[in-house]
Amino acid sequence: MIRQYDQCFVLETAHSSYILRILPTKQLEHLYYGKKLTITSCRDIVPLIEQHAFAPGNTNIYDEEHPEYSLEDMRLEVGTIGKGDIRVPFVEIIHDDGSSTNDFLYHDAKINTTRTPINTLPYAINNQEELEITLVDEAYDVTLKLYYNVYDKYDMITRRAVLINNNKNAIRLNRLMSTQLDFSTHDFVLTTFNGSWTDEMNRHDYVVESGLHINASFTGSSSSRANPFVMLSNKHTSEDAGEVYGLNLIYSGNHYEAVEVSSYGKMRFVSGINPQNFSFLLAQGEQFESPEAVMCYSDRGFNDMSQHMHKFINDCIVRGSWQHQERPILLNSWEANYFKINEQKLIKQAKAAKKAGIELFVMDDGWFGKRDNDQSSLGDWQYDPKKLPHGLKHLVDKINEIGLDFGIWVEPEMVNVDSNLYRSHPNWTIAIPGHGQSEGRHQRILDLCNPEVVDYLTKVMSELFESANIKYVKWDMNRTFSDIYSPYLPSDKQQEVFHRYIIGLYKLLDNLTKAFPDILFEGCASGGNRFDLGMLCFMPQIWASDNTDALCRARIQKNYSYGYPLSVISNHVSSTPNHQTLRTTPLDTRYNVACFGILGYEINLADLSNEALEEITKQIAAYKVHRKTFQFGTFYRVNQVLHNWCVVNDDQKDAIGMLLQELVLPHHQYHQFIARGLKEDSHYHFFNEAKQYNVKLFGDLINTASPVHIKQDSLAHQVVAKFVKMPGEVEDIHTTGSVLMQGVGLKQAFSANGYNENVRYFQDFASRLYFIEEESEMK
Ligand code: GLA
Repeated sequence: MIRQYDQCFVLETAHSSYILRILPTKQLEHLYYGKKLTITSCRDIVPLIEQHAFAPGNTNIYDEEHPEYSLEDMRLEVGTIGKGDIRVPFVEIIHDDGSSTNDFLYHDAKINTTRTPINTLPYAINNQEELEITLVDEAYDVTLKLYYNVYDKYDMITRRAVLINNNKNAIRLNRLMSTQLDFSTHDFVLTTFNGSWTDEMNRHDYVVESGLHINASFTGSSSSRANPFVMLSNKHTSEDAGEVYGLNLIYSGNHYEAVEVSSYGKMRFVSGINPQNFSFLLAQGEQFESPEAVMCYSDRGFNDMSQHMHKFINDCIVRGSWQHQERPILLNSWEANYFKINEQKLIKQAKAAKKAGIELFVMDDGWFGKRDNDQSSLGDWQYDPKKLPHGLKHLVDKINEIGLDFGIWVEPEMVNVDSNLYRSHPNWTIAIPGHGQSEGRHQRILDLCNPEVVDYLTKVMSELFESANIKYVKWDMNRTFSDIYSPYLPSDKQQEVFHRYIIGLYKLLDNLTKAFPDILFEGCASGGNRFDLGMLCFMPQIWASDNTDALCRARIQKNYSYGYPLSVISNHVSSTPNHQTLRTTPLDTRYNVACFGILGYEINLADLSNEALEEITKQIAAYKVHRKTFQFGTFYRVNQVLHNWCVVNDDQKDAIGMLLQELVLPHHQYHQFIARGLKEDSHYHFFNEAKQYNVKLFGDLINTASPVHIKQDSLAHQVVAKFVKMPGEVEDIHTTGSVLMQGVGLKQAFSANGYNENVRYFQDFASRLYFIEEESEMK
């Protein structure tokens, strides 16, 4: 709901209010963003207004008529340069006369019933109301439009800006942020998620005290170095209580989130396109659109904020025929084969996949050109007849005959110098002509600033997707930018390259997703190097990390879940020792982590033991039963010593919990599983799936029970292991939701003093899934 009370605007969602007003000096003053307030008139707003009587210390007075106003100490909706505000600005323009001073003053406002589209960038859909405020800098004839969209039930407010140059002289736009939040105090913790390849989403909490703290990407993509999702919370905010703002950007390029504490103890947050190496030349009549920023407020802890983000992303970011649709279980060929694929091998693996219950077979890298390693062929999207002697369509038909859908890997934005595409179009890459170029993974980036390249890729990819029954595409992007230069653009527009690349990428994705609405696209950028809301507007799921180690994944997936729903997080069960860490984790733990989100396998099923295949077949069957909950249920993180997750279906009748231990701590065997999201007063059945453990897992402890001595790993040990299985613990409890949410005392874990079916075999990296089902009456 958006309302105007005289000089004030009130934006309301179900549980939050955002309030601003026009200052007597005509700038926009930020009054409040937080827990919902009851506002029925102008009078109600008055206490939210700072009572300025004089400007502090050696600050600049805005103008003589208003000696009480110094912009340095005001809470503003738009920070500018040159009129007294010395904090990190919202907008920075160099005018024709060389000046960078701006003063954007209120001109008019309207409340729109439908949102104003963004021409160059994707944006959130299904909005309810929009506030459009026009500010003008009359001295330079430049207009700044601010758009606020309200998403009531998601407790979400979005903000963006458009800058229009009406001046006959060109201007240089050096910065245009998407949102700015000026708080009266700096009593906050800033949380960012940083990392690198195979180590995405490490959570960092900074207690905001002074100065400027920046979270930004300069890789050309949103990056694994610093995800654009950040949080502002209070020191005591927990998963289940306390205030938190979740903040993100619908953008896939270089982004920037800054928190600055002013000399007067106030705090400014801005986010938008990274101003580093960004400068747009705008001639008369030209405009620049900033990406849409999304902001969610909750006073009920991190889980509540995340759940609102999840719903918002499922309903308003992800779109098209896969929105809300359960995603298939896939087998990906990469870790089982790397580049060494051929028709025979793939068919063998696909047959094993079908037997295990997998639904989609994905042929990863290595199928095109002469792609035997990563040094050639990107750009040449024709199948390699040595590997696929009967062609791509033949392979796809065969896979379909086996009963699986077929998916394919592509990396369209890239080219190897050793490729026909590069040889015929050397000027189509991001590179400084005549200079030596730096490369990553032996590849260069195609110049998507050039519309001819975008058209070419639309055509080539369309031909590929039409050439066989392709149901899924893994769209990869494995480079960060270097030698930032577009041969297509004139020299005075070279600082536009980063952003124009993203505009070109979005155009390409728009063309293809419109032409192939039923293909399921999965985003990937060396894992999570482009995991953001911009990509999710085109691709309903993203490969979260090239790291498939269950322990690392537990952290990575948990931290994605702060800002992104399980339905977009793609996870695979892979072989052990793990290819990234050489760690060996149990097969059930690999599944127990991967099933929270979109499940896949990346393992040579044709080589696995019958025992492992049987276990995988059971995992897949169980996932199918609970798939909707795993992908679209309400997800809770529980803060305790062990990793403790709980996902609950919409009607709170079914839930699945996961408990994972990193390392065994002797004499810490009384673990609890803590449920969340259940109906307090309903009765539930809490149970696990009882397992049988291989006696070899106990090593030479077998001799404590065996009447004859058995040498560890001997033939005798193997023979005994075939016939003797160790019973796993059974959990079978009937109680109320409130008790389960208080915590379930589990069977005591093994700790040197014997083993039987009442002892939990719970070694390093062990985990359990627990099932919770509502029952009509107490059993
Ligand atoms: C990237 C992806 C991997 C795989 C390889 C193929 O690293 O993240 O999943 O597709 O490329 O080259």
